[in-house]
Formats: sequence, structure tokens, C-alpha cells
Amino acid sequence: MLSIQNIHKRFGDTHAMNNISLDLKPGLFGLLGPNGAGKSTLMRTLATLQKPDEGSITYDGQDIVVNPDVMRSTLGYLPQDFGVYPRMSAKALLDHIAVLKGINNKKDREEQIISLLQNVNLLKHSSASVATYSGGMRQRFGIAQALLGDPKILIVDEPTAGLDPFERQRFLDLLSEAGEDKIIILSTHIVEDVRDLCPDMAIMGEGKIVARGAPETLIDKIRGKVWRKKIDKDMLDETKTKHQFLSSRYLMGGVIVSVLADTKPEAGFEKSDVILEDAYFAHLNGLV
Ligand SMILES: Nc1ncnc2c1ncn2[C@@H]1O[C@H](COP(=O)(O)OP(=O)(O)OP(=O)(O)O)[C@@H](O)[C@H]1O
Ligand SMILES: [Mg+2]
Repeated sequence: MLSIQNIHKRFGDTHAMNNISLDLKPGLFGLLGPNGAGKSTLMRTLATLQKPDEGSITYDGQDIVVNPDVMRSTLGYLPQDFGVYPRMSAKALLDHIAVLKGINNKKDREEQIISLLQNVNLLKHSSASVATYSGGMRQRFGIAQALLGDPKILIVDEPTAGLDPFERQRFLDLLSEAGEDKIIILSTHIVEDVRDLCPDMAIMGEGKIVARGAPETLIDKIRGKVWRKKIDKDMLDETKTKHQFLSSRYLMGGVIVSVLADTKPEAGFEKSDVILEDAYFAHLNGLV
């Protein structure tokens, strides 16, 4: 088990991680939060690239802040910005990364690399440089390099941002196939990524975990309390201040607003089915 206890990280006045505690078991865990919430800071800390200012992190009882090698020997990490790719073939680059990960046997490396390239559907393109890949291909390459060495912990930071719907689904399928015996942490600001994939999740906002549980459980908390109405867009500001506002979206010349209320808030509001996005905004806006 990966156990995070009361960790903090400050950058000047920014409290990027504010007393975060989480216990994570094998399975897919979704970390959902808006830009600047602190997701990458948490992931970099778990990947032992950065130390928390306070608090402790243990993996199977071993302190990984004090002994980062415990984590590094069993970690696959796909950072948010994978960065610059050297001008070498995808296959050669995987081989290079495999050596860095300590897979010393050449035959082992070769077998793993071919099998991973096949899984992520890049075998055909394995002699091209990753620099020439499309966004989706890069992310699939990214998951292949993260899976080298069969890590027990897999951390992927906003892997679906910028992917088209087809590539996004393809990437999520790869993640769900990655194995039930691994702790997989997926950070994203795309609510559907988590809803469709993760049996366990947390919502992070301004450095804090504001909710934790199964998507269905978070939805259940506000079931029957979400109301929607189409209003004139001039009325949006007023509606936001008058009600427990969740979200709004433009729809054909008007705005659909969603609010939280125990009873019908005003004429025209209809009680609505609750989606995970409602739970996300309810927690982020401090309404539950
Ligand atoms: N190295 C750093 N130096 C200064 N501030 C930092 C640093 N890293 C993160 N921050 C700040 O910490 C906060 C959290 O940033 P972080 O990148 O962890 O958020 P995030 O949830 O990953 O956002 P995004 O969805 O945009 O990737 C932000 O206010 C950010 O500006
Ligand atoms: Mg980030």
C-alpha cells in the first residue's frame, strides 16, 4: 500500500500541497482537479523527484522520502511534459530507458520492448524517431516507457490532455489493461476520464483533497439536489450569486445553469440526473 500522510509543499506564497493524506491500494485511482490544483506537485513528489516540506510517504511500510530508491525501483512515471526527444528511433530510446531502469539482460529488454510496442500499437513505427510522432503516438510511447520493467506503481500525469477522442479512448483502454495488481494514479482535469475508468478517486483543489471515494459515492451525496434551467445569458451573474452555483454551459443562444438545492430553487428549474461533473463542482466550490 502507498500511504501519504499530511504532506505539505510551499513555493513562496503558494501552498501547492496543503496537508494531503491518501492511502492507495492496487487499482486505478483518478486524481481530478483544475489547473494549478497541485496534481503535478503531488505526482512529482510520489515519483521522488521532489521532497515534501512536511509529512511522510511510505510504500509497503518503507519511507520513500528517506529512501527514494524503494520507489524508483518499482515506479513507472509519465510526466505531464515528457519534454524533448533525442533523434533516435523509438525502439532505441526504449532500450536506453530500459538500461537506465536496470534491465541489464539484452534479451529481456528486447522481448519487453517488442511486446510493449505491440501493446501500444507502435511496432510499425518503432524505427521512427519519437520527435516525428503525433500527440497520441507520443502518449502511447510514454505509457510504453513507463511500463518497462513491469512497475508496481504507475503514475500518469494528465496523459489525455490534447488528444482527440479516438486517441484519448485508446490511451484510457491501455491504462485499464495495464493490470489490476498495480497502483495506477491518473491525474486529469477531464471528468469523464475518471468516471469511466476509476473505481476510486479524489478531487483536488488549491492544494487540498476536497473529496475522496468511488465516483458513484460522490454522486450519491448530491443525488436529487441538482437543478438545471435555461436562462438568458444576461442573467448568469445574478443566478451565480443567488444560488449554490455549480456550473454553466452555453447552449444555442442561452445558458444552462446547474445549481445545488434541497428544493426547487425558483420557477423554471428542473430536477436533473446527477453526473460526476456536478459532484466535482459541488466539492470544488465548497458546497458539500
Ligand atoms: N517549481 C515550482 N515553483 C513555483 N511554483 C510552483 C512550482 N511547481 C508548482 N508551482 C505552483 O504550485 C501550484 C500547483 O501547481 P501544479 O503544477 O502542481 O498544479 P496542477 O494541478 O498540476 O495544474 P495543471 O492542471 O495546470 O497541470 C501552482 O500554483 C503552481 O504555480
Ligand atoms: Mg499538472
